[in-house]
Amino acid sequence: MKGIILAGGSGTRLYPLTKVTSKQLLPVYNKPMIYYPLHTLLKAGIKDILIIVAPERSGDFLNLLGSGKEFGARFAYEVQDQPRGIAEAFVIGKEFIEGDPCTLILGDNIYTDDFSEVIANHQEGAKIFVKEVPDANRFGVVEMDESGKVLGIEEKPKVPKSRFAQTGLYIYDSKVADYAEKLTPSARLEYEITDLNNMYLKGGQLSAHKVRGEWIDAGTFESLHRASLVVREHELGIHKNNESSLKVTIREDQKNLKEDFTRSLL
Ligand code: G1P
Repeated sequence: MKGIILAGGSGTRLYPLTKVTSKQLLPVYNKPMIYYPLHTLLKAGIKDILIIVAPERSGDFLNLLGSGKEFGARFAYEVQDQPRGIAEAFVIGKEFIEGDPCTLILGDNIYTDDFSEVIANHQEGAKIFVKEVPDANRFGVVEMDESGKVLGIEEKPKVPKSRFAQTGLYIYDSKVADYAEKLTPSARLEYEITDLNNMYLKGGQLSAHKVRGEWIDAGTFESLHRASLVVREHELGIHKNNESSLKVTIREDQKNLKEDFTRSLL
């Protein structure tokens, strides 16, 4: 299983915080934002990770994350020169994916669940991760039947058919790059992840997993602030469940993780 972190875009909603740096490098409590999605992939045992960044900031990501050796992984980098949509990641990353299955996570999405088993058990088709939210019209809205079978996904509909948002984590089988290459840009000139997922749905190959813990898309002032509060609670062990996948035990083979990262995980 390969991994992709999409950390492009210009972060205009967080201006002026993003005037001289990337949204995904901003602090969330005690770590740069991108550490959290990175942790979600590393915890699932994904060792080959492509980090897709905006061209103006590529050096900063490389300085922070390096080759991946210090995280017990291998990092590759690519540039998305314009924010042309999430699904473009699979076109940019086609050579990296090399026909393997692939998990994509957005560089500003923070989860407290542990998805290792869901990722490890993924076989055919695509899987989305859904969360009930009060403002579903801001997202891809997922319509499901009572058994949780996906009936359709609509990108930011005016009148949402459900309260379930498709979040920023997706697992695909080896066909993903071929499917992504068939997409055409939407009205907002983006290669939509919703269109890609609907292709899988048409082939009867899309399933949904419900996110039980917190999901935060940290792209606004309010959600960025909330992300810091949630992470702080987990780091200090004062979260109500007191069961946090943000705290992991370092495995023997990962002993050489960057010191600051290690300290925060122990
Ligand atoms: C994108 C997707 C949307 C998804 C959201 C998750 O929205 O298009 O379907 O629900 O990410 O964060 P955007 O970030 O483009 O508004």
